[in-house]
This record gives sequence, C-alpha cells and structure tokens, in this order.
Amino acid sequence: MNCFRMVKDVLIESLKYWNETRGLSSKLIKNKMVNYLDHMTTEWKSGDRPAINYEKPLCRLAYVYRHVAANANLFETVLGTSAKLRNLVEDKLAEGDFRVAAFGGGPGTELLGLAKYISKVVKDGQACHVQFTATDRIQEWSDNWARMANHIRNDEDFKRGRNGVVFDTTFLSLDLVNPQPFNRYEYLLRQDLYIFNYVLSETIDDIDSIQEAINILAASADTGARFVVVDRSQKEVRSLARKALVGAGLSVGKDALVQRNMDSDEQCSVLSSCNKWLGTSPRIVWDSFWVVGTKQ
Ligand SMILES: C[S@@+](CC[C@H](N)C(=O)[O-])C[C@H]1O[C@@H](n2cnc3c(N)ncnc32)[C@H](O)[C@@H]1O
Repeated sequence: MNCFRMVKDVLIESLKYWNETRGLSSKLIKNKMVNYLDHMTTEWKSGDRPAINYEKPLCRLAYVYRHVAANANLFETVLGTSAKLRNLVEDKLAEGDFRVAAFGGGPGTELLGLAKYISKVVKDGQACHVQFTATDRIQEWSDNWARMANHIRNDEDFKRGRNGVVFDTTFLSLDLVNPQPFNRYEYLLRQDLYIFNYVLSETIDDIDSIQEAINILAASADTGARFVVVDRSQKEVRSLARKALVGAGLSVGKDALVQRNMDSDEQCSVLSSCNKWLGTSPRIVWDSFWVVGTKQ
C-alpha cells in the first residue's frame, strides 16, 4: 500500500470533478491551490491559532496534496515505534475488534497510516473489525474523508495485504474547542485509540477547552485505552499535549522526537504530473514529536 498513490487517486478524482463537472478552469484551480498552500504556511508560522479556509474545497485539496502522505507515513512510523501502540494494535487484531477515533482527522490521514501499518503487521488468518471514526471541526472534510475511505477499502494492495481486516468508517463534525457536545455521544467516547495528529497545534491558544475535551474522553475510556498526540516539535505544542494528557489523569510516557523523511517505498514522483502542474512538491520530511497516554 502506498500513501502517495492513494493521495494521487483521491486528487485526480476530485480535480476531475471540479474541472469537468463544475467547469472550473485548470488554471483557476491551480492558482487557487497554490495560494492556499502559501497561505497555510504563513498561518502555521504566525505563532497564533492558524486561520485556514478548510471549508473551501480547493483549500482542502491543497492540504491533501501537500501534507496527507507525509503525515500518514509519520503516523504509521509512530504506530510501529511506540511499544504501547504496537502492543495495542497487536492485541486488538488478535481480539478481532478495534475502535479508533481521530480528532481533526477529516482528511483521512490517520486512516491511511493505520491501514498501511495493519496491512504490514496482520497475521495470516487474523480477522478484525476496525471501527474508525474521524471527527473534525470542519463538516466539509466529510467529503474528502468519504473519498479517501472508499479508495483505501478498494485498494488492491490493501485488499491483498489486510487478510480478514475490515474497516467501517464514520465521520462526525465535532469541535475540540467546544467539547460539551461530546457528552451527547456514548459509542464515540469509548475507543481503544484516540488520535490527535497535527490538531493541537491548530488549537494552541485554547488550553482550557482542549483540557476539557480530553477530560471528557478520558473519563469515558476503558482501562488500557491509549491517547496519542503527534504534532510538530514546537515547545508550546509539546507542553500543551503533556499538560492535557496528564491533567486528564492518564499515565503519560516520555515525548519522543522524530525528525525524518518518508520511507523509501514512498516516492513523491508518484505525484509528478501534479507537481509539474502546480510547480511545487508535497512535503516529504517532518520535525515532530509524539507522546502516548494510557488510561489506568
Ligand atoms: C493540520 S490539519 C491535520 C489533519 C490530519 N490530522 C493530518 O495529520 O493530516 C488540522 C486538522 O484539524 C482540524 N481542526 C482544526 N481545529 C479543530 C478543532 N478545534 N476541532 C477539531 N478539528 C479541528 C482541521 O479542520 C484539519 O482537518
């Protein structure tokens, strides 16, 4: 299974829709995507809460193009590196039932990373039902999420490698900085794995609400459930992650720093036609950290 190829399939289908069905010229799509990419970078460097127009379809496509493969590969790396996560996935695959939720997971990045990881570690004859819920503040990500989930399910490599693992996927529109509505759910709140992948850095100035959100989730989680934060290795983000996990009463491991580029089976040349057309390239490196909390 290949992250760049999945991103390519998702992009080509979406771009075709905006160009052929909705009549947007290729030039207009390209200019807008390039502007959105520049704007995102400026916002992330500003030090304030980034104001990114994820509501806009071409902004979401620009994000998918540049960041999803790298963040999925990073997440897959974290799953394989953290003993706590490796053991959890191993146990859940053996039990046959695995519940996972990604917060700020609209693009489908974590689903892609987990699917690739599972297709590498699942044993012959193992059958498992993975119930994967993505939640995101931006309802419109449900569109990209559905497309990504569909491509993953139908990917020939994945079908060959997954053995008896079946993914069911759900999307919910939920805002981490307005967490009271979380209390209206029961199934969502009881996961085996709660993922916060590059989302705390987007909510950096609202520590109290993030704490409240993680408190609500941690209070409902079963013993042994894991919470993982993966994000850029900025001091403020690391401190927010640790504070929130510890504050929610979880047993929290050490932060791990990870500065790397993508695995050798992930070549951005897979996207060469998009790279040429946009005059840029997807991200292939990261300077990140991860930390895992466990419910006792
Ligand atoms: C940098 S992107 C990361 C996306 C994905 N997790 C990844 O690693 O590729 C940040 C995501 O968080 C979502 N987001 C931002 N603020 C949020 C909030 N307050 N609550 C939930 N999601 C939020 C955005 O809509 C976007 O999907």
